[in-house]
Amino acid sequence: MQNFESCGVFFKNYRNLSDYEIGLVFDWRNDAKIRSKMTNERPISITQHYDFLHSLQGDDTRQYFVAFKTYPIGTINLTNINKTSAQLGMFVCPDLIGKGYGNEILRAFLQK
Ligand SMILES: CC(C)(COP(=O)(O)OP(=O)(O)OC[C@H]1O[C@@H](n2cnc3c(N)ncnc32)[C@H](O)[C@@H]1OP(=O)(O)O)[C@@H](O)C(=O)NCCC(=O)NCCS
Repeated sequence: MQNFESCGVFFKNYRNLSDYEIGLVFDWRNDAKIRSKMTNERPISITQHYDFLHSLQGDDTRQYFVAFKTYPIGTINLTNINKTSAQLGMFVCPDLIGKGYGNEILRAFLQK
């Protein structure tokens, strides 16, 4: 899936992120509030982060997006994508947790 807009939220595929956005997602992913909810709770290195991003190239079973309003608000992803199902994951910018952005991202993403 390419970048797309839905319900006032812009979704940018991880394959298209700028260096700044790559750093932003890295910082979010390593924030204690976020990583404590991840399968791997330990901080990841920047090398692991880039390896992960490279692993997404050409893999249509996994689609990761950064969600933006006028500013970046979080991420959402589908993994294990097949013809009938997929697994959904997401996290919100750590400073914006609990302010309704999670609901907004999910609604906009599912609307598409
Ligand atoms: C889970 C997460 C995406 C929700 O986004 P958010 O912006 O904080 O949540 P919202 O303010 O939009 O609230 C969404 C709903 O979840 C509920 N909620 C939010 N945080 C919650 C929490 N820690 N425990 C239980 N419910 C919670 C809200 O009450 C709200 O319920 P409602 O729709 O019935 O009113 C966000 O808190 C987050 O990134 N958490 C860390 C990572 C994570 O847990 N990801 C999910 C697993 S992949």
